[in-house]
Amino acid sequence: MAKQGLQVAIDGPASAGKSTVAKIVAQRFHYIYCDTGAMYRAITWKALQAGADLDDEATIKQLLDQITIRFEPGTPTQKVFVDDTEVTLAIRQPDVTNSVSQVSALPAIRTELTARQRQIADAGGIVMDGRDIGSTVLPHAEVKIFMVASVEERAQRRLKDNAAKGITTPLATLKHEIEERDRKDSTRKVSPLTQAADAIRLDTTSLSIEQVADRIAEIIKEKEMRQ
Ligand code: DC
Repeated sequence: MAKQGLQVAIDGPASAGKSTVAKIVAQRFHYIYCDTGAMYRAITWKALQAGADLDDEATIKQLLDQITIRFEPGTPTQKVFVDDTEVTLAIRQPDVTNSVSQVSALPAIRTELTARQRQIADAGGIVMDGRDIGSTVLPHAEVKIFMVASVEERAQRRLKDNAAKGITTPLATLKHEIEERDRKDSTRKVSPLTQAADAIRLDTTSLSIEQVADRIAEIIKEKEMRQ
């Protein structure tokens, strides 16, 4: 199939602002936006619902094979469905957030979700955010961004996001959770969080969302002109 636009991979640690920026960039270019973290959260939610042992790879893979994970447009965020059940809010709750690193470390889960993500990205015109998009899922993506920000800044951002969802976890706990998730995401055996050699590193600590989106938009435009 002819490509309808570029593949844009945005990776980085938890709460670096990837999804907010990715959504804005996708809208500006009329690209599809795919939040791969939501896919890992969706299978984690399913595993918790089923009462599965989170280390039981075979059982969780079976559960994943039985479900579809779908996105639908929505404001302010895309809606996420597991089959016909909307899980947009459920997958952001602390039980899922604190278990998702364990489930996303399972090789069979990563293999299956990577295949689904490649299918979604196949036609191009996509902004995909995650941890391993530039390094593993879309190694030939035309644009690769690796977004970072200090732990303090990321915890402050999560505090604000959480407040909007009625979640009241204190700042110190959020900092600890972010550090713990960084550690697990960076040290897992399969596709750890890592900057692809050809990715552009963007430190967003002191930048606004609009500034980051503008910078990425410039990079996409430059690439589009050279295609
Ligand atoms: O971006 P997020 O916080 O919603 O991601 C949830 C978890 O999913 C995160 O702890 C790491 C994992 N993840 C992953 O392993 N690979 C991806 N491509 C995206 C997310």
